[in-house]
Amino acid sequence: MAEWLPIAAASECPPGTSLERVVGNRIVALANLDGVWHAIDGLCPHQGGPLGTGKLCGALLTCPWHGWQFDMPTGRHRLSATVTQPRFDVREAEGQVLIRVESGAPVEVPPAEVGTAGGPTA
Ligand code: FES
Repeated sequence: MAEWLPIAAASECPPGTSLERVVGNRIVALANLDGVWHAIDGLCPHQGGPLGTGKLCGALLTCPWHGWQFDMPTGRHRLSATVTQPRFDVREAEGQVLIRVESGAPVEVPPAEVGTAGGPTA
């Protein structure tokens, strides 16, 4: 069963910024792209880096550890079509940003593609 859970006050994540939060049993990267919210799994599939603390440039969020980049609206790795972060539905209500999560869903960590075409090797 899915439920909407608060992730942050809207004021905590102004346009052009991102942040990291733990929601339920998930680490989530939230971004505000000119007033449109996007949320993806915040655990980098490369080596578990904290995506939500990375640099947001346009719609691209860069992992602070080794630079893998993800498109926030789609969750797709910038270079590798086979790497896609799980996404969350997001909505704003009464100044709060909420994401839709499956209750009790296990944390799924996609396998890393270290050294494969399109992904950084570091
Ligand atoms: S852990 Fe994110 S790029 Fe390596």
